[in-house]
Amino acid sequence: MKATSGYAPNPAEYAGNTIEALRDAAMGCQACPLWEHATQTVFGEGPSGAPVMLVGEQPGDQEDVTGHPFVGPAGQLLTRALTAAGIPRDRVYITNAVKHFKFELRGKRRMHKKPVDAEIAACHGWLKREIELVTPSLIVAMGATAVRSVLGRPAPIMASRGKVTEYARGVSLLITVHPSFLLRVPEQDKDDEYERFLDDLKLARPFLR
Ligand code: URA
Repeated sequence: MKATSGYAPNPAEYAGNTIEALRDAAMGCQACPLWEHATQTVFGEGPSGAPVMLVGEQPGDQEDVTGHPFVGPAGQLLTRALTAAGIPRDRVYITNAVKHFKFELRGKRRMHKKPVDAEIAACHGWLKREIELVTPSLIVAMGATAVRSVLGRPAPIMASRGKVTEYARGVSLLITVHPSFLLRVPEQDKDDEYERFLDDLKLARPFLR
């Protein structure tokens, strides 16, 4: 059994540094126990200086194996929705609130487990520094975990979604559902929920400068 936690780099030390240096530092993060069973840290990707930053929950099974965010089923849905909303995926920065895959083994299957507040808090410094280095004009927080990390408190997704609010000076915030929600809704609601998600994403389009 490995130690539950150990090396906990302080993202604030990477002040003035690049997103690449931050990514390298995060690769060794052991600030919470999730590193133990995950394959690797899955850091954000996209142009540094991207005007829009999308924040999800945590890497899933395929993200954990490949090392890239949003490449599994939820990621494919997100890419499709971004394209349909007129937002090329390669123009935005995509990251997660938690950077290690949390799962529970059922037989051989690794089943996604929601991160708890302590894990979100342990990872928050990385996201905060990513925001500072990428300097997006708009942050899109997708789902409860992203909102919890970005705002530092929970907020109701359905009541908060679909409007652009001020986050910080010069930075706006858009809350929406996590794309995996769209994979779970009953079949008869899928089209409507997808359209609502597209309507939310379209609010990000004017921020692509
Ligand atoms: N879900 C997330 O929140 N992030 C990913 O990278 C993949 C699925």
